[in-house]
Amino acid sequence: MNMETRELQREIQRLKEEKNAIILAHYYQRPEVQDIADFVGDSLELSYKAATAPHSTILFCGVTFMAEIAKILAPDKKVLMPYPGAGCILADMALPKEVEEAREKHPGAKVVAYVNTHAQVKALADIICTSANAREVMEKTPGEEIIFLPDKNLGAYHARSLKGKKVILWDGYCPVHQTITLQSIERVKTRHPQALVVVHPECPPEVTEKADFVGSTSQLVRFIAQSQAKSFIVGTEEGTLHQIAKKAPGKELLLPDPVPLCHQMKMTTLERVYKALQEDIYQVEVEEGIRKEAERAIRRMMELS
Ligand code: 13P
Ligand code: SF4
Repeated sequence: MNMETRELQREIQRLKEEKNAIILAHYYQRPEVQDIADFVGDSLELSYKAATAPHSTILFCGVTFMAEIAKILAPDKKVLMPYPGAGCILADMALPKEVEEAREKHPGAKVVAYVNTHAQVKALADIICTSANAREVMEKTPGEEIIFLPDKNLGAYHARSLKGKKVILWDGYCPVHQTITLQSIERVKTRHPQALVVVHPECPPEVTEKADFVGSTSQLVRFIAQSQAKSFIVGTEEGTLHQIAKKAPGKELLLPDPVPLCHQMKMTTLERVYKALQEDIYQVEVEEGIRKEAERAIRRMMELS
């Protein structure tokens, strides 16, 4: 770590205290950004943290839908995003108009929306889920028909073993996890045959079917930390390895080839964090009518899981 990085991190620390701010970061953030966060977690954990943090300002290092959740759950707080252009390509694959059309087409179905959606889409959903609780939410959602959006891979992964429910899948996917193919894992596995393969449920079905373990980012971190095995091919965004290395020191951590990288997540830099805190930019806002409806769907998830 160079002098400039350390200096910036010190300045951010000082500003954070001065402004009564908490910094929340997703696992896919740059290592040096994760290191200045008060809390690093997956989508579900970050939602809970945003809802309960006593600070007056939440600085969110992630993508827009995540910062929106913080504002939805903590409307009286100032929510800042260091780079407001950091969107999620998967979230862009479900538009409010399309959700309304799907509802008209399947009037009896409940809409289960993955957390990777825009606030307007959450407001139209019956309930929200994350990759950590999708199975439980789908099981407990009343009725026999579910429209699951927008990630077809996550939906299909759980629909495979879900009894008594028809799951209508959306045609969306995460372009980062979609690049994790059997071949991209095999290229690494041939050189490390003893490595266990652990993957995120946003990966394609042929990958989740063959993996040794499938879980949300936090579940992957916990699995590796608790496993007796020494070597792992980690099928998710590369930033996750920074926390795994801290929680499971000494384990060999490998990534598929090519390395899964979310450029949107990497738009948040230390310089941008510093600027956002210093200048109180960029504030995240959600229109109140949409916020209330989206909150209803998120709170329902929190009650169910
Ligand atoms: P988690 O729910 O495991 O955090 O993953 C969501 C995701 O893909 C973030 O981009
Ligand atoms: Fe969206 Fe995929 Fe990036 Fe996650 S990894 S923010 S789902 S594009």
